[in-house]
Amino acid sequence: MIKALIFDLDGVITDTAKYHYLAWRELALGLGFDFTEEQNEQLKGVSRIKSLEILLEIGGIIVDEDIMEQLADKKNTRYVEFISKMTPDEILPGVVDFLKKAKTEEYKIGIGSASKNAQTILNRINLNSYFDVVIDGTKVHKPKPDPEVFFKAASELNVKPEECIVFEDAEAGIEAAVNGGFHSVGVGNSKSLGSADYTISGFENVLIEDLIKLIE
Ligand code: BG6
Ligand code: MG
Repeated sequence: MIKALIFDLDGVITDTAKYHYLAWRELALGLGFDFTEEQNEQLKGVSRIKSLEILLEIGGIIVDEDIMEQLADKKNTRYVEFISKMTPDEILPGVVDFLKKAKTEEYKIGIGSASKNAQTILNRINLNSYFDVVIDGTKVHKPKPDPEVFFKAASELNVKPEECIVFEDAEAGIEAAVNGGFHSVGVGNSKSLGSADYTISGFENVLIEDLIKLIE
């Protein structure tokens, strides 16, 4: 029986990928190479430091650990400037209705995000009140596809993995859900989210009872 819903944040609740992209591209250009939107796909769901490793590999740049940290901080400072201006208009279509219905039907609701900026984003888009628990990059040590973030959310919600549905837009996130024994719904491109139990293109016109029927 499904008792809880755990949502990834970036790309599921709101489209922050565009801000990550702008900040990474600025960093890349400053280092002397370009970084395309297509290449940015590789960074979705991936931790900040791993994202930087991928970016530097694309640029063919090798740096030591201190510089890595400085570059990650530089990117994050720019990213925080972007997300500090976010508004509730940036919540993806259908999300609020879906969350409202889930709350009315007494599902427990959590966030399971790799981002260390999750709380800033939730405050800006004014969605905090829907979530019983927020597990983010400040609370876990192992990045997705390790299921730690979802295990922690399930444990704080006092439910078992098999009683949860994880909603994810990134391959690494679906992998994490599968690795942890959670049900999973891919949000976005069904081709890259093939290992999810079910895929939706977004939350518009998606009824929670239909999803539960498909999954249980
Ligand atoms: C994930 C994003 O949610 O969080 C990744 O999909 C991002 O693109 C990661 O790198 C870490 O985010 P932050 O905000 O801690 O740099
Ligand atoms: Mg995501």
